[in-house]
Amino acid sequence: MSSLPISIPKDINKYFFNRKKEIKKINANLSLLEMDIANQILITGYRGVGKTFLLKKILNDQPEKYLTIYLDLSKTYGGQKGELTEEELMKELLNKINEAIIKNENILTKVKGNISNFFKQLELKDYDISNINLSDIQLPEIKDNYLKLSKFVMELPQRIVDSSDNISGFIIVIDEFQLLKSLKNPEAFFWLIRTYTQEQFNVSYIFTGSVSQTGEIINMINGQNGAFGGRMLQFNIDPFSKEETKEYLNERLPSLKFSKEGFERFYACTRGIPAYINSLSSILPTDVECDEGLIKETLLLNVDQIVIMWLYVWGTLSSVEKEIIIFMVENGNVTWSLLNNNLSYAKSTITKYIDSLMNKGVIEYKFNKEYVLSDDMLKTWLEIKYDNDGIYPA
Ligand SMILES: Nc1ncnc2c1ncn2[C@@H]1O[C@H](COP(=O)(O)OP(=O)(O)OP(=O)(O)O)[C@@H](O)[C@H]1O
Ligand SMILES: [Mg+2]
Repeated sequence: MSSLPISIPKDINKYFFNRKKEIKKINANLSLLEMDIANQILITGYRGVGKTFLLKKILNDQPEKYLTIYLDLSKTYGGQKGELTEEELMKELLNKINEAIIKNENILTKVKGNISNFFKQLELKDYDISNINLSDIQLPEIKDNYLKLSKFVMELPQRIVDSSDNISGFIIVIDEFQLLKSLKNPEAFFWLIRTYTQEQFNVSYIFTGSVSQTGEIINMINGQNGAFGGRMLQFNIDPFSKEETKEYLNERLPSLKFSKEGFERFYACTRGIPAYINSLSSILPTDVECDEGLIKETLLLNVDQIVIMWLYVWGTLSSVEKEIIIFMVENGNVTWSLLNNNLSYAKSTITKYIDSLMNKGVIEYKFNKEYVLSDDMLKTWLEIKYDNDGIYPA
């Protein structure tokens, strides 16, 4: 039996491997909160490389003086049937802030008075957040006053820090942040966050998600003309190196054995991406020496299990997006004009879907004006499916 998780396990410490350097770097920035320096952080990296797991580990290990929030927008988005609104987002954030302070009775009593006052000042009379119960602070009805709601929610974390001696910082992780693209006005939203964070010295936001480093949303938030104009600290999380992969498997799954070529093949297939390392090693036989042929065959027969994270993504793509991907699988890297000449869509349609594929981290833009698939495993999967079924997955 395998002991490597194929999703993010509850027992983080039991399964989390290494990432010591990344943790040190991120924590070094978060620890400045205590000195009233709030950094805003953007974490990028391939799908399945371990961004979410890393951030969960980091939040989990924060000292008590920091309150933490983890907000996964794919959950908010899912609950909203594909429509993410600014209001819902604020309510969700409020919910999470609430959860963070509820955990700590001590803080709660101290901040309660302060928050109630703040609330009164804002005169949030017409807001309906009736399903949110900020502990037992009575929140009045809200209807359509987004500005007041956002002011309340965005200023709340700093107020909580200010009103409690034991708390010196607030860390807010927003995962799958590329979904903010589906807001009516994502730029305005980033500017809103930027505006509030400028005046908050003890609140750090960490944005992460499955977005290509060249995605326009990265520009929108942190590009030269973006809301944070490059002031956000940007870290890319790399796949495990060959050595790390070896060490990881030796330590966590010692019954898995490779021939020399077998391991090379394993690394070439997984490219050090933990999601693939875990899922492929979970289906390899243990206590026999896995050679190149066995790795190839296992991948071929179990490709759905290995690319599981792409099955979900594929299902969410539009037919134009799928067509672009299939064209790239069959023709290799493409330029915009090659796509335009070969697919029968309007220019604007092609541009629109290229952007959306980049925001979803499916394709990347290279300096030579070519678009490439971000992950060869997606290509492998589509090719195997086509070979087996004669058609590409719907
Ligand atoms: N440091 C690690 N140690 C052990 N396993 C890991 C580590 N990082 C990631 N994994 C494994 O890889 C899987 C994918 O990680 P995670 O979901 O964090 O990736 P991600 O970068 O957030 O991907 P996505 O872009 O799809 O959200 C996890 O479910 C976990 O099993
Ligand atoms: Mg993730």
